[in-house]
Amino acid sequence: MADYVGAIDQGTTSTRFMIFDHAGSEVMRHQLEHEQILPQAGWVEHNPLEIWERTSAVVQTALAKAGLGSDDLAAVGITNQRETTVVWDRRTGRPYYPAIVWQDTRTDKLASRLEREGYGEVIRRKAGLPPATYFAGGKIAWLLENVPGVREDAEAGHAIFGTTDCWLTWQLTGGRRGGVHVTDVTNASRTMLMNLETLDWDDELLEIFGIPASMLPEIRPSSVRDPYGTTREDGPFAGEVPLTGILGDQQAAMVGQVCFESGEAKNTYGTGNFMLLNTGETLVRSEAGLLTTPAYQFDGEPVHYALEGSIAVTGSAVQWLRDQLGIISGAAQSEALARQVEDNGGVYFVPAFSGLFAPYWRSDARGAIVGLSRFNTNAHLARATLEAICFQSRDVAEAMVSDAGIELDVLKVDGGVTQNELCMQIQADVLGVEVSRPVVAETTALGAAYAAGLAVGFWSSKDELRSNWAESKRWSPQWDDERRAEAYGRWKKAVERTLDWVE
Ligand code: G3P
Repeated sequence: MADYVGAIDQGTTSTRFMIFDHAGSEVMRHQLEHEQILPQAGWVEHNPLEIWERTSAVVQTALAKAGLGSDDLAAVGITNQRETTVVWDRRTGRPYYPAIVWQDTRTDKLASRLEREGYGEVIRRKAGLPPATYFAGGKIAWLLENVPGVREDAEAGHAIFGTTDCWLTWQLTGGRRGGVHVTDVTNASRTMLMNLETLDWDDELLEIFGIPASMLPEIRPSSVRDPYGTTREDGPFAGEVPLTGILGDQQAAMVGQVCFESGEAKNTYGTGNFMLLNTGETLVRSEAGLLTTPAYQFDGEPVHYALEGSIAVTGSAVQWLRDQLGIISGAAQSEALARQVEDNGGVYFVPAFSGLFAPYWRSDARGAIVGLSRFNTNAHLARATLEAICFQSRDVAEAMVSDAGIELDVLKVDGGVTQNELCMQIQADVLGVEVSRPVVAETTALGAAYAAGLAVGFWSSKDELRSNWAESKRWSPQWDDERRAEAYGRWKKAVERTLDWVE
C-alpha cells in the first residue's frame, strides 16, 4: 500500500492540500486564498471556478514540493466549508451564479417567513436546524427564484446543486465527462432538506422550499470502502486515486480530534467558532438553541450524531480590529495589545455583525461595545474582543449542558486562534474547565485524511487513530468562581443590548 493519504480542505478563505503519513503527521501542504466577493451589505460570494482552480493548484504544488505522485497516495479525503451553495450546469460545468457563502444573509426574509408561517417546527424536527440564512436550502431557493434559467434547467435535470465538497468531487472525477454527483451525510445535513433519521432528502422539506429532487446529489456515508469516485489522469493528481472520505470541516475537526466517544467535545476557532459534542448514536433534539447534526458516518457503522453550537463571528472580530479599525497590524498583535491591560476595564464587545447564531439565532441583532468610560483604551477593546470569543463559546457550552446534561471536564481546541495563548487562558477562565490543544493543529484536514484512510485500510481502526493524538499544551482556569460569575453576568447583559436592533 502507498505510504500517504491526502486531504483537500476547501475553507471559507482558502483552500489547502495536505499530505499525511501513517502517524498522522503532516508531510507537506500548500495553501491558496480565494477572493471574498461582497457585492452588497450582508452578501458574501465566492467564484466556484476560482475555487476549482485553486484546488488544482494546491494539489499539484504540494505533490511536487513533496516529490510524490498519485501512486504514493492510498486515498484522498475532502473537507469543506459547509452550507456554501453552488448550482451548475452538468452539461457544461458552468456555475449559473457565484457560490452563496454560509455567512450570506440575503435569505433573511425567507427565514423569518418560514418561522412566521409555522414551518419552523417541521424543519427543526426533521432537519435538526432552525430556519436561518446560514443553511443551504434557502440559498438554493433564492437561486431558483432569482437567476434566469435555473428553475427550468433544474426541472430538466441539467442544473445541479452541491456544497463545495460535491462541486470538487464532481470536477475531480471527470466534470462534464462523467463527474460523480455525490455528497456525505454531514454536508447534506446542513441544507434543511435532509431528514436526520432516514439520512435522505425529505419530500416534505423539498416541497416547503420548492426544490426539485433532481438537483440534489446522492447522500453517502463520510468514509466509504466503495469509493465515491476516482481522480482522473487528466486532473490535478495526474493519476487515479480513490476518493473515500468526505466530511464537513467542523465534523472533520471532530474526527481529527478523535472525539469518538459520546460526551467528547471540541471547539474550532476560525473566522467563527464551532463547538461540537458527540452524542453517539443518540439523536438529541436541542431545546437550548443548538443544532443537531451527524458527526460522521463510517462505512458499515451507524451514524454518530452531535450537538453543534455555531458562532458566526470570532476570529473575524479580530480581523475587524485589524482591517476596519486599524488598531492592530496582524492577528498575533491582538495578544500583545490585550496583554497591556490586566482586565477588560469594564468593556464588553458583542460582535453580532450578522446577527447572532447559536444559541440565540437572532438575525435582528447587531454588534455593540458597551461599558465604555474615558479611561478605556485600544488595549481594553482588544481584550474585550478575545473575551467575546470565549464568552460566546461559554454561551454554547451552557446550552450543551442544558440539552445533553453533560458537563465538560476538558475542552479540546483547534484552529488558528488557538495560537493566541492569552485567548486560550481566558477561555479556561471563562468556562472554568481545562482547555487542551493537540500537537497537530490542522485537525480539519487530518480528520478528512482519517475518514479516507480508514476506508482503504491505511489505518485499521479508530483506536489506532486515538493513539496518534497528543497534547501540545493545556490551560487551567485561574479565575475564582465569583469573578467568573460576575464577568459572565455582565456579558449576558451586553448581549441583551444587541437584540431587536434591526426591524
Ligand atoms: O459552517 C461553516 C463552517 O463550515 C466554515 O468553516 O473554517 O471554513 O470558516 P471555515
